[in-house]
Amino acid sequence: MENMQEIEEIKARIEEAVKDIKSSATMREIKMKFLGKAGEISSLMKKLRDLPPEMRPEMGKIINALREWAENRFDEFEKAVKTKELGARYEREKIDVTLPGKTRKKGAFHPDTMIVDELVSVFAGMGFEIYEGREIETDYYNFTALNTPKDHPARDMQDTFYLGADYLLRTQTSAGQVHVMENKKPPIKILSPGKVYRPDDDATHSPMFSQMEGLVVDKGITLCDLKGMLDEFAARIFGSGVKTRLRPSYFPFTEPSVEVDVSCFACGGKGCKLCKGTGWIEVLGAGMVNRAVLENCGIDPDVYTGFAFGMGIERIAMLKYGINNMKLLFEGDVRFLKQFRA
Ligand code: DAH
Repeated sequence: MENMQEIEEIKARIEEAVKDIKSSATMREIKMKFLGKAGEISSLMKKLRDLPPEMRPEMGKIINALREWAENRFDEFEKAVKTKELGARYEREKIDVTLPGKTRKKGAFHPDTMIVDELVSVFAGMGFEIYEGREIETDYYNFTALNTPKDHPARDMQDTFYLGADYLLRTQTSAGQVHVMENKKPPIKILSPGKVYRPDDDATHSPMFSQMEGLVVDKGITLCDLKGMLDEFAARIFGSGVKTRLRPSYFPFTEPSVEVDVSCFACGGKGCKLCKGTGWIEVLGAGMVNRAVLENCGIDPDVYTGFAFGMGIERIAMLKYGINNMKLLFEGDVRFLKQFRA
């Protein structure tokens, strides 16, 4: 009888204990307390030894029934706890798939970069190689070797940032021509994009800007080759049907020198605001490489001839995209730049 009461008490304690179960971890703890090797039910089994032998089988059955009951009870609760835990996890990890996604801010190329890339692809298609040159130059490479010695009046055409007596910030990518011709035997066909510097500052000038230089040297190169290449360049950059014309000009490093105009791509040559009514727009300087320059670089001007050209990248970008102030290209204002997003 005493045993029966003990069994009822254990049942009651189990019922009491499971009520507090909040997690699988506490569940395991409580289960061990009753069903583990040293648990209450096992010790009850051990106590069978103290009973008179005839009572042992009967009592054994009762204890086994208790164990079975307890196991079922725990199983039931375990299931309930697991379902609750899973529910809580679902709640915790819930995501609202209907929320608007985070938009990625897409960057864009700077107009200068777009023009350089376009020019490089046009000229690379004609077999030009890229030479980057250097921004700090000596007076010799920027001027003297380009047939512009110290007392030459053409130095007035390009105000210069000097870095001491011999060094300066290059005023033109033309300086790269000399490095190339000193180091490479003709045939030479190079394209040289880069930054240049001049103390100029207004709506169409900036102390730092970008140029693209081209140089071709070989046997039998003529002004006709330059004209043919320019026609191709104009059609590819400004649109098919755009023509070029050459006007006489002066640069110390070319003879003859020309200013190159393209027919106005806005009005087709009839005359408009962009071309100031003339039907033509000036885009670059060019000419046949001066004999003196070839000689300075160790190339025989009686064997080889060449042409060169140089253009302002910002100027091309301003024309092509209708930008009226060069400053906009250097300020980095996103409101301006995002208009060029593809
Ligand atoms: N370097 C000249 C300038 O900055 C542009 C130029 C003119 C480059 C004629 C050339 C050229 O290579 O042949 O104004």
